Amino acid sequence: MAGPIRVAVTGAAGQIGYSLLFRIASGQMFGPNQKVILQLLEVPIEGPMKALSGVAMELDDCAFPLLESMVLTSDPAVAFRDVHWALLVGSKPRGPGMERADLLKDNGKIFVAQGKIIDEVASDDCRVAVVGNPANTNCMIAAHQAKRLPKSRFTAMVRLDQNRAATQLAKKAGVPVTDVSEIFIYGNHSPSMFADFTHAKIQGKPATTAITDRTWLEDEFLPTVGKRGAAIIAARNLSSAASAANALVDHVRDLCTPGAIHSIAVESDGSYGFSPGVWAGVPVKTTSPGSWEVVKSYTMDSFAQSKIAITNEELVGERDTVKEMLA
Ligand code: NAD
Ligand code: LMR
Repeated sequence: MAGPIRVAVTGAAGQIGYSLLFRIASGQMFGPNQKVILQLLEVPIEGPMKALSGVAMELDDCAFPLLESMVLTSDPAVAFRDVHWALLVGSKPRGPGMERADLLKDNGKIFVAQGKIIDEVASDDCRVAVVGNPANTNCMIAAHQAKRLPKSRFTAMVRLDQNRAATQLAKKAGVPVTDVSEIFIYGNHSPSMFADFTHAKIQGKPATTAITDRTWLEDEFLPTVGKRGAAIIAARNLSSAASAANALVDHVRDLCTPGAIHSIAVESDGSYGFSPGVWAGVPVKTTSPGSWEVVKSYTMDSFAQSKIAITNEELVGERDTVKEMLA
């Protein structure tokens, strides 16, 4: 059994937190041989801190063998001290009728402050995963505060979109989701994202030979995946939570698994036509636990290039909106 790792989770008393913490403590994120110390951050307000104490009681009541201890705090310097992973969930979710980018001004400030503190107090090998929306740009904001930690340590979650896309393709083709592979998300975690069906595979063959209805792929599949978050908000009156927590488990677990190929949002080096410096979803291969390289081998046709150009333009626009938050 390895020594414990320290994992900070922000917004720990929120909806996603309530699904996420139990998955981490049970070993689903870091594996069955890895003990964890959970360092849980909430806002310094009585309601959320009291709710957090209740969540901690429930974690205790699970008697998880891998949960070494917990820290409950409203002080970011305590929450992020010596952490190996910082999972940045805490921020405002959107409501009906809003786009995720509408959250930028409010949530962006959180990521300026937390990026700075993480850089000051986290472990040298700290990895940061951003979930709070708009996730790509919040991640860029946090990464820009870092002077010590390399920007490659800061990733944002587009895995929920990858998982959504895989299920939609599987349902259309009438196959189990495990028969779908190489479906990757390019660009922003927003309706402009491109879920690249052109290189996806179903039972090892091009998805476009299993699903020959191109109109469905372009006009139904892409919008269904892109607007799934809004569909869930319309149905639940709350944003996705269990599926988001599940996607973060997948994101971190695959980033800890050398050889895994998966979609994450990282600082663009210009691959696939993204503007250098925006945080764009791309396929990456995990090279060693917590490190990755972009998979650059997919050749995009003119349709895919036009979709990538649209989502890139949105990311560049978000970056312009927050330019004063980029140190
Ligand atoms: P929620 O409102 O249920 O919980 C958020 C929690 O964060 C609250 O308890 C709040 O008190 C706390 N919080 C707010 N500011 C904080 C701060 N500065 N420090 C620490 N805690 C803070 O929201 P939720 O449903 O858990 O969603 C959280 C975020 O995740 C939202 O921005 C939502 O849009 C986003 N989200 C992203 C994805 C994705 O795929 N990237 C998916 C689902 C949700
Ligand atoms: C999602 O995709 O479900 C989340 O980003 C929540 C939202 O605002 O759509």
